[in-house]
Amino acid sequence: MKARLILGSLCLSASLSLSAQKSATITLQPEKATQIIPKEIYGQFAEHLGTCIYGGLWVGEDSNIPNTNGYRNDMLVALKELKIPVMRWPGGCFADEYHWMDGIGPKENRPKMVNNNWGGTIEDNSFGTHEFLNLCEMLECEPYISGNVGSGTVEELAKWVEYMTSDGDSPMANLRRQNGRDKAWGVKYLGVGNESWGCGGSMRPEYYADLYRRYSTYCRNYDGNKLYKVASGASDYDYNWTDVLMNRAAYNMDGLSLHYYTVTGWTGSKGSAINFDNEEHYWTMGKCLEVEDVLQKHIAIMNKYDKDKRIGLLLDEWGTWWDEEPGTVSGHLFQQNSMRDAFVASLSLDVFHKYTDRLKMANIAQVANVLQSMILTQEDKLVLTPTYHVFKMYNVHQNAKHLPLHLTCDTISVGDNRKVPLVSATASIDASGKVHISLSNVDLQNTQKVSINLANLKVKNATGEILTTNNICNYNSFEEPNKVVPTQFKNMKLNKNILIVDMPAKSIIGIELE
Ligand code: AHR
Repeated sequence: MKARLILGSLCLSASLSLSAQKSATITLQPEKATQIIPKEIYGQFAEHLGTCIYGGLWVGEDSNIPNTNGYRNDMLVALKELKIPVMRWPGGCFADEYHWMDGIGPKENRPKMVNNNWGGTIEDNSFGTHEFLNLCEMLECEPYISGNVGSGTVEELAKWVEYMTSDGDSPMANLRRQNGRDKAWGVKYLGVGNESWGCGGSMRPEYYADLYRRYSTYCRNYDGNKLYKVASGASDYDYNWTDVLMNRAAYNMDGLSLHYYTVTGWTGSKGSAINFDNEEHYWTMGKCLEVEDVLQKHIAIMNKYDKDKRIGLLLDEWGTWWDEEPGTVSGHLFQQNSMRDAFVASLSLDVFHKYTDRLKMANIAQVANVLQSMILTQEDKLVLTPTYHVFKMYNVHQNAKHLPLHLTCDTISVGDNRKVPLVSATASIDASGKVHISLSNVDLQNTQKVSINLANLKVKNATGEILTTNNICNYNSFEEPNKVVPTQFKNMKLNKNILIVDMPAKSIIGIELE
């Protein structure tokens, strides 16, 4: 770990340390509210990687694991609860080696391939276009297709769009019909390549900008389906990529993507998901909050070229990236998920809500069994992670009006110059007038008395839910799946327009006011 923490102690001894009560203040600013939080901020990502698809979402019709047409039933139930607005597929890096025609038609005829990016696993293509788009229909979410630019052709991508969305008497629509699907699916989001600077083709931005223009030209709108075309964007701090793409290809795009992972670095160990100390915890909070600066800088570049904010910024990969769990398959990116990951989710979402005049989508990586997952599976067992619980607690903000707020709280110093705020918050008001406030106290030791000024919002009743645990390293395992779960929260008092909330250390609280 690169950072040095000024106030540090071992994770395992945290509960033995003396705790104190701190205070924070929040003032809601409804008069400044202008933005609706697009539900797509709560997007998911499902890649052919490890057991995300096979074993995670899909077990096949012949499996002993209870399933509906091959999709595992326990997964479907859990995912429906999340109200997923959009799901990105088939990658990631996998997308630029994926040839969609290998994944249609009778399963026994589908060719196999090597998943070169992810452990060299043999991919049998039994989960393809139909399986994915039908899943989206079952979950009532928008599909976000990631097209192959790195190793595919313009013709291949153009035909894929026709296959999925044409309802006419077209060759690809007829092929789809032969494969059992009469009506076209609606497909709105189309990614034209992924990480084209890296696994998606190692391109220079100038070259990719031209390719993007070429590929996107032939991705047509069929029969009322209107594509939202997304150019493959930068990673983290590569502002030049955004600048070149905006300069050369803005006219042809609806969205530009960005990837930001909370990761210690791209070489060497990334640290354990479940054995970490206090210093690593606070460092992680700081690193995840750095996304705000990264967003601001990419947005500033986009503003230069697109003053009217026509083009959306899509953070279509984000989340924590730790070492793979010992004993799991190398290259499958299977990691556990602790209360620390829950904070990365809540803090990141708090930031995203502030930039939705430009940030139109975010897709956490990934939905099951890969990186910062919602859900982990092991054969017939399924576990909801602390991150899942945050997404569920936060889904009240989907399509609600963001309420800006002013927050003051203590900070903790991490490393040489990073100050991490100990409290984070976000608020929104939904169409029925209910106000939702989400609070995080990342302090490992101290409680927080949070005084919230509700300004002119008229509310009479407050109810709450809390996600907390006595040890930040705690997680939900297959043996103990309910170690970190939300419970009812009552420790708050509403007095006219002031709400006082007593937050335990290491807690995330969702409050509903009506
Ligand atoms: O999410 C895992 C991988 O991270 C994706 O395949 C790739 O786009 C990124 O580098």
